[in-house]
Amino acid sequence: MICVRLDIKSAKLLERFQEIVDSLKDLSIIEPQGSELPDVVIFEVGPDSEKDLESVEAMQRSPSCPEIFITYASYEIMKKALKMGIREFFSEPIKKEEVEIAFARYKKNLKHGKPKKGKYGKILSVLGSKGGMGTTTVAVNLAEALTLTGDSVRIGLVDLNLEFGDIPLFLDIEPTHTIADVLQNILRLDSEFLLRAMIKHDSGIYILGSPNNPEEAKIITHDGIKQIFNLMQGMFDYIVVDSNRSLNQAIMVSLGLSEKVFVITQLDLASLKNAKRFIDMCITMGFDESKFRLVINRYDKNADISLDEAEAVFKQKASWLIPSDYVTVVSSINQGKSFIHTADNSRMTKSFKKMALRIQGKETKTSRLWGLIK
Ligand SMILES: Nc1ncnc2c1ncn2[C@@H]1O[C@H](COP(=O)(O)OP(=O)(O)OP(=O)(O)O)[C@@H](O)[C@H]1O
Ligand SMILES: [Mg+2]
Repeated sequence: MICVRLDIKSAKLLERFQEIVDSLKDLSIIEPQGSELPDVVIFEVGPDSEKDLESVEAMQRSPSCPEIFITYASYEIMKKALKMGIREFFSEPIKKEEVEIAFARYKKNLKHGKPKKGKYGKILSVLGSKGGMGTTTVAVNLAEALTLTGDSVRIGLVDLNLEFGDIPLFLDIEPTHTIADVLQNILRLDSEFLLRAMIKHDSGIYILGSPNNPEEAKIITHDGIKQIFNLMQGMFDYIVVDSNRSLNQAIMVSLGLSEKVFVITQLDLASLKNAKRFIDMCITMGFDESKFRLVINRYDKNADISLDEAEAVFKQKASWLIPSDYVTVVSSINQGKSFIHTADNSRMTKSFKKMALRIQGKETKTSRLWGLIK
């Protein structure tokens, strides 16, 4: 039985959907405020479309995200909802056959084992407590490791170091377009346009480069960045963001949208102090505390400051201990390739593959050493 919730305000439209859903096999309508979770929500985007689309977005994000079908009044709304990953639309007059076909498609997708959740890529921000902590190293290699976990996942990598982006150097690429070009053409933004502005790396990941000069960074707006990320969430399974602590508009948007923020630090006083200050500041600004993850790069168990001491200050366990392996890291940068591909057997690669599995909920072992801790 498929549980259907009707989030429809107009009485006539509600009546019409009740009639249709009642007449179809295997469907049952559940109470809007009831405790039962719906499999499918039919949602009316009404005159206050912006607010309604925000509600759709929030539903899409919830862990128990149902499939959402939309009934709408304009082509503009449909376009926006498409970007959010909505795939079924009904316009008035509502025809029973169209609703029936939408549910048939839904059932078929379930049967083929496709996730019933609307596809909505997760944003993973990687951010250094200070310069030189290894942020770009982590972002690039994590993005590549995520492609190796078996399923054909689609990965986007965004360089939000608006003034000095290093990703082209790490991957030996020359982006012809950057995030600045996309923002300059924001009215033309759709998935095709965005893909053309990104560069496809041999490993399969798509990269959106940072502006070529600091002047271009000035055109960045909150709304523009939000539109880009929202669109990307419909196009990729994971979007890894090489970020920094500057808390400009772009970073604020990506932190807000991120499912996890990996704060990269090392076991020395200055970096730990900065990491702590940064996380505290974000929490004060209203960001959700639970998304911040402490990552110790170049972990050395003989460092002056012990892991236990650091974790006590942060009141959280480090979620990832990355070994120090200068030769592997530097030689991969010199070759313009990720170590995931140049040093398959290295401790670095093993650590990154493990984290990638964990992010995708596929990790089996819970070893703490060089790996991951709850
Ligand atoms: N786990 C590691 N083991 C050894 N060397 C590392 C490791 N991680 C990073 N490095 C080295 O540290 C240096 C800085 O790394 P990276 O450029 O990734 O840092 P960043 O935080 O992005 O710097 P920036 O603030 O300039 O953007 C690089 O030379 C890299 O080789
Ligand atoms: Mg960097």
